[in-house]
Amino acid sequence: MAFLCLSYVLLVGFLSKSQLVTSQFNDKATVLVINEEIEVPGWGDNGTNFCNWRGITCNLNHLLVERLALPRLDLRGNVTLISELKALKQLDLSGNNFHGPIPSGFGNLSQLEFLDLSSNKFEGLIPRELGSLRSLKSLNLSNNLLVGEIPDELQGLERLEEFQISSNNFNGSIPSWVGNLTSLRVFTAYENELGGEIPDNLGSVSELKLLNLHSNQLKGPIPSNIFVMGKLEVLVLTQNRLSGGLPELVGNCQGLSNIRIGNNDLEGVIPKAIGNVSSLTYFEADDNNLSGDIISEFAQCSNLTLLNLASNVFSGVIPLSLDSL
Ligand SMILES: *[C@@H]1O[C@H](CO)[C@@H](O)[C@H](O)[C@H]1NC(C)=O
Ligand SMILES: *[C@@H]1O[C@H](CO)[C@@H](O)[C@H](O)[C@H]1NC(C)=O
Ligand SMILES: *[C@@H]1O[C@H](CO)[C@@H](O)[C@H](O)[C@H]1NC(C)=O
Ligand SMILES: *[C@@H]1O[C@H](CO)[C@@H](O)[C@H](O)[C@H]1NC(C)=O
Ligand SMILES: *[C@@H]1O[C@H](CO)[C@@H](O)[C@H](O)[C@H]1NC(C)=O
Ligand SMILES: *[C@@H]1O[C@H](CO)[C@@H](O)[C@H](O)[C@H]1NC(C)=O
Ligand SMILES: *[C@@H]1O[C@H](CO)[C@@H](O)[C@H](O)[C@H]1NC(C)=O
Ligand SMILES: *[C@@H]1O[C@H](CO)[C@@H](O)[C@H](O)[C@H]1NC(C)=O
Ligand SMILES: *[C@@H]1O[C@H](CO)[C@@H](O)[C@H](O)[C@H]1NC(C)=O
Repeated sequence: MAFLCLSYVLLVGFLSKSQLVTSQFNDKATVLVINEEIEVPGWGDNGTNFCNWRGITCNLNHLLVERLALPRLDLRGNVTLISELKALKQLDLSGNNFHGPIPSGFGNLSQLEFLDLSSNKFEGLIPRELGSLRSLKSLNLSNNLLVGEIPDELQGLERLEEFQISSNNFNGSIPSWVGNLTSLRVFTAYENELGGEIPDNLGSVSELKLLNLHSNQLKGPIPSNIFVMGKLEVLVLTQNRLSGGLPELVGNCQGLSNIRIGNNDLEGVIPKAIGNVSSLTYFEADDNNLSGDIISEFAQCSNLTLLNLASNVFSGVIPLSLDSL
C-alpha cells in the first residue's frame, strides 16, 4: 500500500504532456497540463483549489471541471487536452487566438451542452466526431477559418437550439436535416460560400426565431415553411441569388421585426399580409426585381422605421399613408 501511494505521487510529480495519466475522479492533473500548453493568466498551483482558478467551475465534489469559460483572453496554444475533461458541460474558448484544427477529441465530451469556439483561427473541416455530442444545445463556430461542407454527422445533435457557423468558408449546401432539428431557435450561417437552396423544411418543426444566411450563394425560393410556426423574429437573407417572391405566409409572424432580403433576384409583388407583421421595424428589399404597387399595408406596421425598396421595378404612386414613415 505504501509503495502504491508513493508511485502515484511520483507519477503526478513527473507528469508531462506525453505521459498524462488522467484520472476519472480528479481533473487537477489534467488542468495543470492544459496550463502548460495555454498558460492561462491566474492559473498555477499556489495553494488555491484549481476549481477556483479563472474560468473554472467544478462539480459539487470540487474534483471535476464542469464549466471552462476563457473568453477574450488572447490565449493561444494547443487545446487538444481539454477533451480529457470528461465532465465538461460548458466550454467557451471564444475570442482567443487558437489555431489549427478543432480537436476531434471534443466529440468525446459526452456531457457537453454548450460549445463556443467563435472568433478564433480554427481551420480545416468541422470534425465529424462532434456529431456524437448528444447533449449539445448550443454550438458556435462563427468567425474562424473553417472550410468544407457541414458534415452530415451533425444531424446527431438532436437537441441543438443554437447553431452558429457564420463568417467561415463553408461551402456545399445547407443540409436538409437542419430543418429536422426540433429545438432549433437560432441558425446563423452568414458570410460563407454556401450554395444550393434553403432547405424547404427549415422552420417546419422548430420554433425558429433567428435565421441569418446573408452573403452566401443561395438560390431558389424563400421557403414559406420558415413562417409556418409563426415564431420568426429576425430574417436576414441579403446578398444571395434567391428568386421568386416573399411568401404570403409572412403575415403569420406577428413578432417579426427585421426582414432583410435585399440584393437578390426576387420578383413579384409584396404580399398585403405584410400589414399583419405588427412588430415590423426594418424592411429592406432593395436591389431585387420586385414589382407592382408599393402597398399601403406597410402603414399598419406602426413601428416601421426603415423601408428600403430602392432599385426594384415598382410602378404606381407612393401611397399617402406611408408619408408618416
Ligand atoms: C493564486 O491564488 C490567488 C487567489 O488566492 C489568485 O488570485 C491567483 O491568480 C492565483 N494564481 C497565481 C498563478 O498566482
Ligand atoms: C496538439 O497536440 C496534439 C497531440 O497532443 C497533436 O496531435 C496536434 O497536432 C496538436 N495540434 C496543433 C494545432 O498543434
Ligand atoms: C475518444 O474516446 C475513445 C474511447 O475512450 C478513444 O478510443 C478515442 O481515442 C478518443 N478520441 C480522441 C480523439 O481522443
Ligand atoms: C455564440 O453563440 C452562442 C449561442 O447563440 C451565444 O450565446 C454566444 O454569445 C455566441 N458567442 C459569441 C462570442 O458571440
Ligand atoms: C469546398 O471546399 C473544399 C475545401 O476548400 C474543397 O476541397 C471542395 O472542393 C469545395 N467543394 C465545393 C462543392 O465547392
Ligand atoms: C426529416 O424528417 C422527415 C419527416 O420526419 C423525414 O421524412 C426526412 O427523411 C428527414 N430528413 C432528413 C435529412 O433526416
Ligand atoms: C392577416 O390578418 C387578418 C386579420 O387579422 C387575417 O384574416 C389574415 O388571415 C391574416 N393573414 C395572414 C397571411 O396571416
Ligand atoms: C428583372 O427584370 C428585368 C425586366 O423585367 C429583366 O430584364 C431582368 O432579367 C430581371 N432580372 C432578374 C435578376 O430577374
Ligand atoms: C413597438 O415598439 C415599442 C418600443 O420598442 C414596443 O414596446 C411595442 O411593443 C412595439 N409594438 C409592436 C406592435 O411590436
